[in-house]
This record gives sequence, C-alpha cells and structure tokens, in this order.
Amino acid sequence: MNQKEVEDIEKEVYSRAFSRLPVTIVRGKGMYLYDLNNNKFLDMFSGIAVCSLGHSNEEIIKVIANQSKKLMHVSNWFYTLPQLELARLLTRISGLKRVFITNDGTGAVESAIKLARKVTGKKEIIAMENAFHGRTLGSLSLTWNEKYKKPFYPLLPRVKFARYNDIESLKKLISEDTAAVILEPIQGESGVIIPGDDYLREVREITEERDVLLILDEIQTGFGRTGVMFEFQRHRIKPDILCVGKGMAAGFPIGAIVYNCGDFDKGEHGGTFVGNPLACEVAKKTIEIIQRENLIKNSDKIGNYIINELQDIMEIRGRGLMIGIKVSDAKKTTLELIDRRILTIYSNNILRILPPLIIEKKHAEIFISAIDSLKC
Ligand SMILES: Cc1ncc(COP(=O)(O)O)c(C=O)c1O
Repeated sequence: MNQKEVEDIEKEVYSRAFSRLPVTIVRGKGMYLYDLNNNKFLDMFSGIAVCSLGHSNEEIIKVIANQSKKLMHVSNWFYTLPQLELARLLTRISGLKRVFITNDGTGAVESAIKLARKVTGKKEIIAMENAFHGRTLGSLSLTWNEKYKKPFYPLLPRVKFARYNDIESLKKLISEDTAAVILEPIQGESGVIIPGDDYLREVREITEERDVLLILDEIQTGFGRTGVMFEFQRHRIKPDILCVGKGMAAGFPIGAIVYNCGDFDKGEHGGTFVGNPLACEVAKKTIEIIQRENLIKNSDKIGNYIINELQDIMEIRGRGLMIGIKVSDAKKTTLELIDRRILTIYSNNILRILPPLIIEKKHAEIFISAIDSLKC
C-alpha cells in the first residue's frame, strides 16, 4: 500500500476529526520510526510526549507478553495486584496519598472535576486562559480554545478563566463557590508557556488561604518530561489533586489522579477498563525504567543542550525535553523537517519538541543541524 492509498481509505471510512501529517508510521525502534517504504525518521515528538522510552523497548515488550499470558482484564468487581502496586508506586513518587487510575488524560481530568465537586460540595472551577485539559465534555469545559468548544455548547456551567501567570487575575475570580483551581505547570498545547518562578507557589498559597483545591494537570509535564519527576516538586509545593497520563506507560493508554483530599464513595466513580492489570504492569515497568536509567537527568541534560545550542539563532523556550521554538510558519517547518526525516508537531507558530527521554546527544545534534539549516 502507498501513502495515497492510505489517505484514500481514511477519507472513505475514518472520521474527519484529525488533521494528519502525510506519513504512515508502521513501526518504531528506539529513537526512530519507519514509514510504509521503510524510510527512517528521528522521533522528536514521542507521540505527543508519550513514548518516553522510545519504541519497542525490550523490557516493555516482555511485560506486555507476560502479563497478557497471565491476565489482561477482569474489571473492578475484583481486586488485582498490578493496580494496587501501581497505586503504591504513584503515591511514593508523588508524595500524595490515594490513587484512581483512568484510561487516559481526559479521564484523569474528568475524575479530578468530579472529586473536587464531591469533596468540597462547591460547583465552580477556575481554569486558565490558553489551557488544554482534554476533549471530553468536562475537560473540554476547562480548555480555553474556542475552536475546540464552539460546536459543543452547552458545556459545564460555573467555569471561569483566569489569566495564566497572573496571580491577581486568579485572586479576583475566587469566590465562595470555587471548588478548585486547575492549571498546567507549563502549558503544553498552547505552545510551551512557562510561568514565572514564583507563580505556582503563589497559586498554592492563595488556594490554601481561600480553602480551594488545587488541581495540577501534569499529564504532559509528568514522569520526567521537564527534567524533574513532576513539575510541582521543582516548586516545592503539593497539589490536592494531580492529573497524570501520557508518558506514564511508554505508549500504553493510561492516566490517573493522585490526591490528598477526600474521596469518592462506593459507586460514585468507575469504568470498565480503568486500572486494568495489563496497563498497570506496563506503567509500573515504565516508571521503574525511567528511574533506573536516570532518564529524568537525561531529559534535563539534553533539553538544556538543545536550548543552549539554538538560543542564539532562534526564539526557543522549554524545560527538559518539553521545548517550543517560535517559527514563522510552524506547519511549513514541520513538513520541511519531515523531508529531512525528522518528526515534530506544532501549535500555532510554535514548533514543539518532545523527544523520547532516551534521546542521546547525537540525536539532538541531528535535530539542531536540521533546524539550523532551515533558517525558519
Ligand atoms: C495538559 C494536558 N491535559 C490533558 C490532556 C488530555 O489527555 P488525553 O489526550 O490523554 O485525553 C492533554 C493532552 O494533550 C494535555 O496535554
């Protein structure tokens, strides 16, 4: 099959929801992905900050094979050990107390919204301008971009938006009915927006003072992406609810909330697949490898290297391996990089660089010389 035939099938049978780049990926190994003609591409986006261990990691393959021979799914009618072991691990690495595992990031945000409303008895949620929290109706309500929301109104009522990185704007919006404030410690989908050094701590102070829950959405920043396990740890604060997903299981779909506030009662939350043993085993192994192989340090080191090499010639910002580069036409640059066999993604006029955490200096150099040669 060739690329044109693939695109024709998509046009015929698949939803038009996605604007895709013109490559069909058939397999991956380490830092590289391969198309229908076996062309080799350097992966500089990890399936949107997901494949932290690169592709076809041997240990992950083994875990999937072994666990699927043992038990793939049983539902939450029964206890399963991988679920509880993963929960224990998540509490250990986050310092938070209790876990609910979901199937993806948006499921984590939905869980956070429900939990915040339930434990506070209040209804209002304050999100941030330019935020992205997912596509299901609850998380979509907390997402800023009007384009994503417009066809789907009415969304959740009682959602307000504060200006990101502006503590006064947040202070003005908090009311007696505010259940929670939700924010990304670094905004990802809107183009890698990093707030000031004190902002997160100030948000924690004001939420504590006003008895409002703080939900941190670390779905994109979590598990070492930014050079620390979680961004909140860099700022020495603790959220009441932490949302995670993406890089948690090396490409296997999963998410979670980890929380320190009250809890759901029986039957108040659930899902057929949530916390299934296969996904949980893969997540456990992924976190183990990230820690054992010092991938968080690597994220910091290679991220800094890329930023240092490029900062004199272009507008670049980032933390660890979550990097944005301002270009005049990001789609054009993305396509030109595809011609040079490098895969990236973009938001607005920002090229987004989110490589696997296993990236080495030699891969970074390939990217740096390609982007430099484009003069974008
Ligand atoms: C910060 C943030 N929150 C939530 C989500 C939604 O996660 P998912 O796509 O797994 O539903 C994303 C996805 O890009 C994200 O970046």
